[in-house]
Amino acid sequence: MKSLLFVYLLIQIFAVAAQPSEDPEHAKEFIPTNEWQTISEGQEIPPGLHVRLNLETGLREAKVLDNNEQKSTSNEIIAVSPEAHQEEISRKNLEKAFANLDLSKDDVQSDETHEEDIRQRFRSYDELKKEFESLNMKIQTDQEILVTLIDQLNKTDNDDNTKTILTDLEYYLHQYDNAVLFADMNGLDLLVALLNSTNTDAEIRKLTSLALGAAFQGNPKVQLKALQSDCIQHLLHLLNIESDDNIILRLLFALSTLLRNFPPAQKTFLEHGGAELMIKMFDLNNKIAVRTITLMNDLITEKNHAMDIKKEAYKNVHVLNQLVDYGWCARISSRLALLFDTDNFDHIDKTINAMIPLIDVCRADFIHLISTLDKFNTIYKHNNLNDYADILNNIQTLLTQLRQRSSGDL
Ligand SMILES: *[C@@H]1O[C@H](CO)[C@@H](O)[C@H](O)[C@H]1NC(C)=O
Ligand SMILES: *[C@@H]1O[C@H](CO)[C@@H](O)[C@H](O)[C@H]1NC(C)=O
Repeated sequence: MKSLLFVYLLIQIFAVAAQPSEDPEHAKEFIPTNEWQTISEGQEIPPGLHVRLNLETGLREAKVLDNNEQKSTSNEIIAVSPEAHQEEISRKNLEKAFANLDLSKDDVQSDETHEEDIRQRFRSYDELKKEFESLNMKIQTDQEILVTLIDQLNKTDNDDNTKTILTDLEYYLHQYDNAVLFADMNGLDLLVALLNSTNTDAEIRKLTSLALGAAFQGNPKVQLKALQSDCIQHLLHLLNIESDDNIILRLLFALSTLLRNFPPAQKTFLEHGGAELMIKMFDLNNKIAVRTITLMNDLITEKNHAMDIKKEAYKNVHVLNQLVDYGWCARISSRLALLFDTDNFDHIDKTINAMIPLIDVCRADFIHLISTLDKFNTIYKHNNLNDYADILNNIQTLLTQLRQRSSGDL
Protein backbone atom coordinates (compact mmCIF):
# COMPACT_ATOMS: atom_id res chain seq x y z
CA MET A 1 0.00 0.00 0.00
CA LYS A 2 2.86 2.33 0.73
CA SER A 3 3.91 2.34 -2.91
CA LEU A 4 0.39 3.08 -3.97
CA LEU A 5 0.12 6.08 -1.72
CA PHE A 6 3.40 7.16 -3.05
CA VAL A 7 2.15 7.04 -6.60
CA TYR A 8 -0.80 9.18 -5.73
CA LEU A 9 1.37 11.63 -3.93
CA LEU A 10 3.47 12.00 -7.01
CA ILE A 11 0.56 12.63 -9.25
CA GLN A 12 -0.86 15.18 -6.91
CA ILE A 13 2.38 17.02 -6.65
CA PHE A 14 2.91 16.85 -10.33
CA ALA A 15 -0.53 18.24 -10.96
CA VAL A 16 0.41 21.21 -8.85
CA ALA A 17 3.69 21.62 -10.64
CA ALA A 18 2.08 21.59 -14.03
CA GLN A 19 -0.51 24.15 -13.16
CA PRO A 20 0.05 27.68 -14.37
CA SER A 21 1.38 29.89 -11.66
CA GLU A 22 -1.02 32.17 -9.90
CA ASP A 23 1.59 34.83 -9.91
CA PRO A 24 3.35 34.54 -13.26
CA GLU A 25 5.42 37.71 -12.78
CA HIS A 26 7.32 36.13 -9.94
CA ALA A 27 7.80 32.72 -11.49
CA LYS A 28 10.94 32.53 -13.52
CA GLU A 29 10.83 30.70 -16.79
CA PHE A 30 12.05 27.12 -16.50
CA ILE A 31 14.73 26.47 -19.10
CA PRO A 32 15.15 22.72 -19.45
CA THR A 33 18.54 21.18 -20.17
CA ASN A 34 19.95 17.66 -20.26
CA GLU A 35 20.60 17.89 -16.51
CA TRP A 36 18.05 17.52 -13.78
CA GLN A 37 17.02 20.92 -12.42
CA THR A 38 14.82 21.71 -9.47
CA ILE A 39 11.44 23.19 -10.35
CA SER A 40 10.67 26.14 -8.11
CA GLU A 41 7.31 26.68 -6.56
CA GLY A 42 4.78 27.96 -9.08
CA GLN A 43 7.20 27.60 -11.95
CA GLU A 44 5.60 26.50 -15.23
CA ILE A 45 7.35 23.83 -17.25
CA PRO A 46 6.98 23.11 -20.97
CA PRO A 47 5.48 19.76 -22.02
CA GLY A 48 7.58 16.82 -23.13
CA LEU A 49 9.97 16.80 -20.16
CA HIS A 50 10.98 14.14 -17.72
CA VAL A 51 9.74 15.15 -14.32
CA ARG A 52 10.76 13.40 -11.15
CA LEU A 53 10.28 13.80 -7.47
CA ASN A 54 13.46 13.53 -5.50
CA LEU A 55 12.30 11.75 -2.42
CA GLU A 56 15.35 12.75 -0.45
CA THR A 57 14.87 16.47 -0.90
CA GLY A 58 11.12 16.43 -1.53
CA LEU A 59 11.70 18.67 -4.54
CA ARG A 60 10.55 18.20 -8.11
CA GLU A 61 13.11 18.11 -10.87
CA ALA A 62 12.89 18.14 -14.65
CA LYS A 63 15.09 17.70 -17.69
CA VAL A 64 14.69 17.19 -21.41
CA LEU A 65 14.25 13.68 -22.70
CA ASP A 66 17.36 11.88 -23.87
CA ASN A 67 17.65 11.40 -27.60
CA ASN A 68 16.82 7.73 -27.46
CA GLU A 69 13.71 8.36 -25.43
CA GLN A 70 10.42 8.75 -27.14
CA LYS A 71 9.06 12.25 -27.29
CA SER A 72 5.66 12.72 -25.84
CA THR A 73 3.33 15.62 -25.48
CA SER A 74 2.84 15.11 -21.78
CA ASN A 75 5.41 14.96 -19.04
CA GLU A 76 6.33 11.54 -17.76
CA ILE A 77 6.94 11.35 -14.06
CA ILE A 78 9.72 9.31 -12.61
CA ALA A 79 10.03 8.69 -8.93
CA VAL A 80 13.44 8.58 -7.39
CA SER A 81 13.28 6.89 -4.06
CA PRO A 82 16.06 7.05 -1.47
CA GLU A 83 17.12 3.57 -2.55
CA ALA A 84 17.72 5.07 -5.99
CA HIS A 85 15.04 2.77 -7.26
CA GLN A 86 13.43 4.28 -10.32
CA GLU A 87 9.92 3.68 -11.39
CA GLU A 88 8.06 5.16 -14.22
CA ILE A 89 4.62 6.14 -13.15
CA SER A 90 2.10 5.50 -15.82
CA ARG A 91 -1.54 4.57 -15.95
CA LYS A 92 -0.41 1.01 -16.54
CA ASN A 93 1.62 1.00 -13.34
CA LEU A 94 -1.30 2.40 -11.45
CA GLU A 95 -3.53 -0.31 -12.78
CA LYS A 96 -0.94 -2.90 -11.87
CA ALA A 97 -0.73 -1.52 -8.37
CA PHE A 98 -4.48 -1.80 -8.01
CA ALA A 99 -4.55 -5.28 -9.46
CA ASN A 100 -2.05 -6.36 -6.82
CA LEU A 101 -4.17 -4.90 -4.08
CA ASP A 102 -6.43 -7.92 -4.36
CA LEU A 103 -9.39 -5.82 -3.41
CA SER A 104 -11.65 -8.65 -2.46
CA LYS A 105 -11.02 -12.11 -3.72
CA ASP A 106 -14.53 -13.28 -3.62
CA ASP A 107 -17.54 -11.74 -5.21
CA VAL A 108 -16.18 -8.31 -5.79
CA GLN A 109 -13.64 -9.55 -8.28
CA SER A 110 -16.41 -10.36 -10.72
CA ASP A 111 -17.75 -6.88 -10.27
CA GLU A 112 -15.63 -5.07 -12.83
CA THR A 113 -16.86 -1.66 -11.96
CA HIS A 114 -15.79 -1.94 -8.36
CA GLU A 115 -12.09 -1.50 -8.93
CA GLU A 116 -12.70 1.51 -11.10
CA ASP A 117 -15.03 2.89 -8.47
CA ILE A 118 -12.48 2.61 -5.72
CA ARG A 119 -9.83 4.10 -7.94
CA GLN A 120 -11.95 7.10 -8.66
CA ARG A 121 -13.46 7.64 -5.30
CA PHE A 122 -11.07 6.98 -2.52
CA ARG A 123 -9.23 10.05 -1.37
CA SER A 124 -5.49 9.74 -1.47
CA TYR A 125 -3.42 10.20 1.63
CA ASP A 126 -2.40 13.57 0.31
CA GLU A 127 -5.94 14.71 -0.33
CA LEU A 128 -7.05 13.59 3.10
CA LYS A 129 -4.10 15.30 4.69
CA LYS A 130 -4.96 18.54 2.96
CA GLU A 131 -8.58 18.23 3.87
CA PHE A 132 -7.84 17.57 7.51
CA GLU A 133 -5.29 20.34 7.60
CA SER A 134 -7.94 22.74 6.44
CA LEU A 135 -9.87 21.65 9.53
CA ASN A 136 -6.79 22.43 11.61
CA MET A 137 -6.03 18.77 12.15
CA LYS A 138 -2.48 17.69 11.62
CA ILE A 139 -2.35 14.26 10.05
CA GLN A 140 0.87 12.31 9.96
CA THR A 141 0.11 8.65 9.70
CA ASP A 142 -2.43 6.13 8.42
CA GLN A 143 -3.43 5.58 12.02
CA GLU A 144 -4.30 9.21 12.56
CA ILE A 145 -6.34 9.11 9.39
CA LEU A 146 -8.22 6.11 10.74
CA VAL A 147 -8.95 7.77 14.06
CA THR A 148 -10.34 10.74 12.19
CA LEU A 149 -12.40 8.59 9.82
CA ILE A 150 -13.94 6.67 12.71
CA ASP A 151 -14.78 9.90 14.47
CA GLN A 152 -16.35 11.35 11.32
CA LEU A 153 -18.30 8.18 10.58
CA ASN A 154 -19.66 8.23 14.13
CA LYS A 155 -20.73 11.85 13.88
CA THR A 156 -21.99 12.40 10.37
CA ASP A 157 -25.63 12.02 9.48
CA ASN A 158 -25.13 12.96 5.86
CA ASP A 159 -25.38 10.01 3.44
CA ASP A 160 -22.86 11.37 0.96
CA ASN A 161 -20.28 11.93 3.68
CA THR A 162 -20.90 8.46 4.99
CA LYS A 163 -20.30 6.96 1.53
CA THR A 164 -17.06 8.86 1.10
CA ILE A 165 -15.83 7.81 4.54
CA LEU A 166 -16.73 4.17 3.88
CA THR A 167 -14.89 4.16 0.56
CA ASP A 168 -11.79 5.55 2.28
CA LEU A 169 -12.16 3.04 5.07
CA GLU A 170 -12.34 0.09 2.69
CA TYR A 171 -9.09 1.25 1.21
CA TYR A 172 -7.24 1.76 4.49
CA LEU A 173 -8.58 -1.39 6.11
CA HIS A 174 -6.93 -3.61 3.54
CA GLN A 175 -3.76 -2.97 5.48
CA TYR A 176 -3.29 -5.39 8.36
CA ASP A 177 -2.21 -2.94 11.07
CA ASN A 178 -4.87 -0.42 10.13
CA ALA A 179 -7.58 -3.05 10.41
CA VAL A 180 -6.33 -4.17 13.85
CA LEU A 181 -6.32 -0.61 15.10
CA PHE A 182 -9.77 -0.03 13.65
CA ALA A 183 -11.12 -3.10 15.46
CA ASP A 184 -9.45 -2.04 18.73
CA MET A 185 -11.20 1.33 18.47
CA ASN A 186 -14.56 -0.46 18.17
CA GLY A 187 -14.87 0.47 14.53
CA LEU A 188 -16.47 -2.90 13.75
CA ASP A 189 -19.40 -2.09 16.03
CA LEU A 190 -19.89 1.15 14.21
CA LEU A 191 -20.07 -0.65 10.87
CA VAL A 192 -22.44 -3.33 12.17
CA ALA A 193 -24.71 -0.66 13.60
CA LEU A 194 -24.71 1.07 10.22
CA LEU A 195 -25.69 -2.15 8.46
CA ASN A 196 -28.39 -2.79 11.00
CA SER A 197 -29.99 0.61 10.91
CA THR A 198 -33.33 0.47 9.14
CA ASN A 199 -32.96 3.83 7.49
CA THR A 200 -29.56 3.15 5.92
CA ASP A 201 -29.67 3.32 2.15
CA ALA A 202 -28.65 0.42 -0.10
CA GLU A 203 -25.40 1.94 -1.33
CA ILE A 204 -24.26 2.56 2.25
CA ARG A 205 -25.04 -1.02 3.24
CA LYS A 206 -23.03 -2.28 0.27
CA LEU A 207 -20.05 -0.08 1.08
CA THR A 208 -20.26 -1.05 4.74
CA SER A 209 -20.13 -4.78 3.88
CA LEU A 210 -17.09 -4.17 1.70
CA ALA A 211 -15.33 -2.25 4.46
CA LEU A 212 -16.05 -5.07 6.89
CA GLY A 213 -14.72 -7.61 4.39
CA ALA A 214 -11.56 -5.57 3.93
CA ALA A 215 -11.01 -5.52 7.69
CA PHE A 216 -11.64 -9.26 8.17
CA GLN A 217 -9.80 -10.62 5.16
CA GLY A 218 -6.78 -12.68 6.19
CA ASN A 219 -6.64 -10.88 9.53
CA PRO A 220 -7.06 -13.28 12.49
CA LYS A 221 -6.80 -10.49 15.08
CA VAL A 222 -9.72 -8.66 13.55
CA GLN A 223 -11.61 -11.91 13.01
CA LEU A 224 -11.24 -12.65 16.72
CA LYS A 225 -12.45 -9.21 17.68
CA ALA A 226 -15.43 -9.67 15.36
CA LEU A 227 -16.21 -13.01 16.95
CA GLN A 228 -16.15 -11.40 20.40
CA SER A 229 -18.54 -8.66 19.24
CA ASP A 230 -21.03 -11.21 17.87
CA CYS A 231 -20.46 -10.14 14.28
CA ILE A 232 -21.36 -13.63 13.02
CA GLN A 233 -24.78 -13.47 14.64
CA HIS A 234 -25.33 -9.96 13.28
CA LEU A 235 -24.31 -10.92 9.75
CA LEU A 236 -26.53 -14.01 9.81
CA HIS A 237 -29.43 -11.93 11.07
CA LEU A 238 -28.86 -9.34 8.34
CA LEU A 239 -28.64 -12.01 5.64
CA ASN A 240 -31.87 -13.45 6.90
CA ILE A 241 -33.83 -10.21 6.64
CA GLU A 242 -32.16 -8.58 3.63
CA SER A 243 -34.27 -8.42 0.48
CA ASP A 244 -31.85 -6.75 -1.94
CA ASP A 245 -29.92 -9.49 -3.80
CA ASN A 246 -26.92 -7.25 -4.40
CA ILE A 247 -26.58 -6.49 -0.72
CA ILE A 248 -26.94 -10.19 0.05
CA LEU A 249 -23.94 -10.86 -2.20
CA ARG A 250 -21.92 -8.25 -0.32
CA LEU A 251 -23.00 -9.58 3.05
CA LEU A 252 -21.98 -13.07 1.93
CA PHE A 253 -18.64 -11.64 1.00
CA ALA A 254 -18.18 -10.07 4.45
CA LEU A 255 -19.28 -13.34 6.07
CA SER A 256 -16.86 -15.39 3.98
CA THR A 257 -13.89 -13.21 4.94
CA LEU A 258 -14.83 -13.65 8.59
CA LEU A 259 -15.22 -17.45 8.34
CA ARG A 260 -12.28 -18.38 6.15
CA ASN A 261 -9.31 -19.90 7.95
CA PHE A 262 -10.90 -19.14 11.28
CA PRO A 263 -12.48 -22.29 12.77
CA PRO A 264 -13.89 -20.62 15.92
CA ALA A 265 -16.01 -18.35 13.72
CA GLN A 266 -17.15 -21.36 11.69
CA LYS A 267 -18.27 -23.06 14.88
CA THR A 268 -20.28 -20.00 15.91
CA PHE A 269 -21.69 -19.79 12.39
CA LEU A 270 -23.00 -23.36 12.68
CA GLU A 271 -24.32 -22.84 16.20
CA HIS A 272 -26.44 -19.93 15.02
CA GLY A 273 -28.17 -21.60 12.11
CA GLY A 274 -25.56 -20.82 9.45
CA ALA A 275 -25.98 -24.11 7.60
CA GLU A 276 -29.74 -23.77 7.45
CA LEU A 277 -29.44 -20.22 6.20
CA MET A 278 -27.05 -21.28 3.45
CA ILE A 279 -29.66 -23.75 2.20
CA LYS A 280 -32.17 -20.90 2.14
CA MET A 281 -29.79 -18.86 -0.03
CA PHE A 282 -30.24 -21.42 -2.80
CA ASP A 283 -33.71 -20.16 -3.53
CA LEU A 284 -32.67 -16.58 -4.22
CA ASN A 285 -30.81 -16.49 -7.52
CA ASN A 286 -28.11 -18.37 -9.42
CA LYS A 287 -25.36 -15.98 -8.50
CA ILE A 288 -26.14 -16.18 -4.81
CA ALA A 289 -26.48 -19.96 -4.98
CA VAL A 290 -23.09 -20.41 -6.63
CA ARG A 291 -21.44 -18.06 -4.11
CA THR A 292 -22.98 -20.06 -1.31
CA ILE A 293 -21.74 -23.34 -2.81
CA THR A 294 -18.27 -21.89 -3.27
CA LEU A 295 -18.08 -20.58 0.28
CA MET A 296 -19.25 -23.86 1.80
CA ASN A 297 -16.87 -25.80 -0.43
CA ASP A 298 -14.01 -23.56 0.70
CA LEU A 299 -14.79 -24.28 4.34
CA ILE A 300 -15.11 -28.03 3.76
CA THR A 301 -11.88 -28.17 1.77
CA GLU A 302 -10.09 -26.02 4.33
CA LYS A 303 -10.89 -28.52 7.06
CA ASN A 304 -9.97 -31.50 4.87
CA HIS A 305 -6.60 -29.97 4.11
CA ALA A 306 -5.76 -28.89 7.65
CA MET A 307 -2.56 -30.48 8.90
CA ASP A 308 -1.06 -31.21 12.30
CA ILE A 309 -1.97 -28.66 14.96
CA LYS A 310 -4.43 -26.95 12.68
CA LYS A 311 -6.40 -30.17 12.36
CA GLU A 312 -7.18 -29.96 16.07
CA ALA A 313 -8.75 -26.53 15.59
CA TYR A 314 -11.35 -27.99 13.23
CA LYS A 315 -12.17 -30.95 15.46
CA ASN A 316 -15.54 -29.55 16.54
CA VAL A 317 -16.38 -27.78 13.30
CA HIS A 318 -18.71 -29.92 11.22
CA VAL A 319 -19.77 -27.78 8.30
CA LEU A 320 -20.22 -30.74 5.97
CA ASN A 321 -22.30 -32.82 8.39
CA GLN A 322 -24.62 -29.95 9.22
CA LEU A 323 -25.14 -29.05 5.58
CA VAL A 324 -25.94 -32.68 4.80
CA ASP A 325 -28.44 -32.76 7.68
CA TYR A 326 -30.27 -29.86 6.08
CA GLY A 327 -30.43 -31.46 2.64
CA TRP A 328 -27.31 -30.09 0.97
CA CYS A 329 -26.80 -33.19 -1.25
CA ALA A 330 -30.24 -33.01 -2.82
CA ARG A 331 -29.91 -29.25 -3.38
CA ILE A 332 -26.55 -29.60 -5.11
CA SER A 333 -27.85 -32.46 -7.29
CA SER A 334 -30.88 -30.56 -8.48
CA ARG A 335 -28.76 -27.50 -9.20
CA LEU A 336 -26.39 -29.44 -11.40
CA ALA A 337 -29.32 -30.93 -13.30
CA LEU A 338 -30.71 -27.42 -13.84
CA LEU A 339 -27.36 -26.10 -14.96
CA PHE A 340 -27.29 -28.61 -17.79
CA ASP A 341 -29.66 -26.41 -19.74
CA THR A 342 -27.55 -23.31 -19.33
CA ASP A 343 -24.17 -22.60 -20.75
CA ASN A 344 -22.97 -20.91 -17.63
CA PHE A 345 -19.66 -22.75 -17.51
CA ASP A 346 -18.46 -20.85 -14.49
CA HIS A 347 -21.41 -22.05 -12.44
CA ILE A 348 -21.15 -25.59 -13.81
CA ASP A 349 -17.45 -25.67 -13.01
CA LYS A 350 -17.90 -24.41 -9.45
CA THR A 351 -20.79 -26.74 -8.73
CA ILE A 352 -18.94 -29.81 -10.02
CA ASN A 353 -15.85 -28.78 -8.10
CA ALA A 354 -17.88 -28.54 -4.91
CA MET A 355 -19.24 -32.06 -5.44
CA ILE A 356 -15.85 -33.75 -5.18
CA PRO A 357 -15.48 -33.66 -1.36
CA LEU A 358 -19.12 -34.71 -1.08
CA ILE A 359 -18.93 -37.95 -3.07
CA ASP A 360 -18.98 -40.19 0.01
CA VAL A 361 -21.71 -38.48 2.01
CA CYS A 362 -23.93 -37.54 -0.92
CA ARG A 363 -23.65 -40.79 -2.82
CA ALA A 364 -27.37 -41.62 -2.69
CA ASP A 365 -28.26 -38.29 -4.33
CA PHE A 366 -25.35 -38.09 -6.72
CA ILE A 367 -25.98 -41.57 -8.19
CA HIS A 368 -28.87 -40.08 -10.16
CA LEU A 369 -26.47 -37.64 -11.80
CA ILE A 370 -24.44 -40.28 -13.62
CA SER A 371 -26.21 -39.75 -16.94
CA THR A 372 -26.01 -35.95 -16.60
CA LEU A 373 -22.31 -36.17 -15.78
CA ASP A 374 -21.85 -38.47 -18.78
CA LYS A 375 -23.36 -35.80 -21.02
CA PHE A 376 -21.13 -33.12 -19.51
CA ASN A 377 -18.18 -35.43 -20.03
CA THR A 378 -18.98 -35.77 -23.74
CA ILE A 379 -19.46 -32.02 -24.18
CA TYR A 380 -16.23 -31.05 -22.44
CA LYS A 381 -14.23 -33.84 -24.12
CA HIS A 382 -15.38 -32.82 -27.57
CA ASN A 383 -14.42 -29.24 -26.96
CA ASN A 384 -11.01 -30.52 -26.01
CA LEU A 385 -9.87 -27.20 -24.65
CA ASN A 386 -7.04 -26.85 -22.22
CA ASP A 387 -9.14 -24.42 -20.22
CA TYR A 388 -11.41 -27.28 -19.27
CA ALA A 389 -8.77 -29.74 -18.12
CA ASP A 390 -9.65 -29.32 -14.43
CA ILE A 391 -13.37 -29.60 -14.86
CA LEU A 392 -13.02 -32.62 -17.14
CA ASN A 393 -10.82 -34.20 -14.53
CA ASN A 394 -13.44 -33.51 -11.84
CA ILE A 395 -16.24 -34.94 -13.98
CA GLN A 396 -14.28 -38.11 -14.60
CA THR A 397 -13.37 -38.47 -10.93
CA LEU A 398 -17.04 -38.18 -10.03
CA LEU A 399 -18.09 -40.66 -12.70
CA THR A 400 -15.46 -43.23 -11.77
CA GLN A 401 -16.20 -43.07 -8.07
CA LEU A 402 -19.97 -43.08 -8.47
CA ARG A 403 -19.82 -46.06 -10.85
CA GLN A 404 -17.51 -48.01 -8.54
CA ARG A 405 -19.79 -47.47 -5.62
CA SER A 406 -22.97 -48.21 -7.53
CA SER A 407 -21.67 -51.50 -8.95
CA GLY A 408 -20.29 -52.32 -5.50
CA ASP A 409 -23.80 -51.88 -4.11
CA LEU A 410 -25.31 -54.47 -6.38
C1 LIG B 1 -19.45 7.27 18.88
O1 LIG B 1 -19.95 8.37 19.60
C2 LIG B 1 -20.53 8.02 20.86
C3 LIG B 1 -21.14 9.27 21.46
O2 LIG B 1 -20.26 10.33 21.40
C4 LIG B 1 -19.45 7.39 21.76
O3 LIG B 1 -20.01 7.04 23.00
C5 LIG B 1 -18.91 6.17 21.06
O4 LIG B 1 -17.85 5.61 21.83
C6 LIG B 1 -18.39 6.51 19.68
N1 LIG B 1 -18.06 5.27 18.99
C7 LIG B 1 -16.85 5.03 18.46
C8 LIG B 1 -16.65 3.74 17.81
O5 LIG B 1 -15.94 5.85 18.48
C1 LIG C 1 -30.18 -4.45 15.11
O1 LIG C 1 -31.52 -4.01 15.04
C2 LIG C 1 -32.41 -4.76 15.84
C3 LIG C 1 -33.82 -4.27 15.57
O2 LIG C 1 -33.84 -2.91 15.31
C4 LIG C 1 -32.00 -4.65 17.31
O3 LIG C 1 -32.88 -5.42 18.11
C5 LIG C 1 -30.57 -5.13 17.46
O4 LIG C 1 -30.13 -4.95 18.80
C6 LIG C 1 -29.65 -4.39 16.52
N1 LIG C 1 -28.31 -4.95 16.58
C7 LIG C 1 -27.22 -4.19 16.59
C8 LIG C 1 -25.92 -4.91 16.64
O5 LIG C 1 -27.24 -2.99 16.54
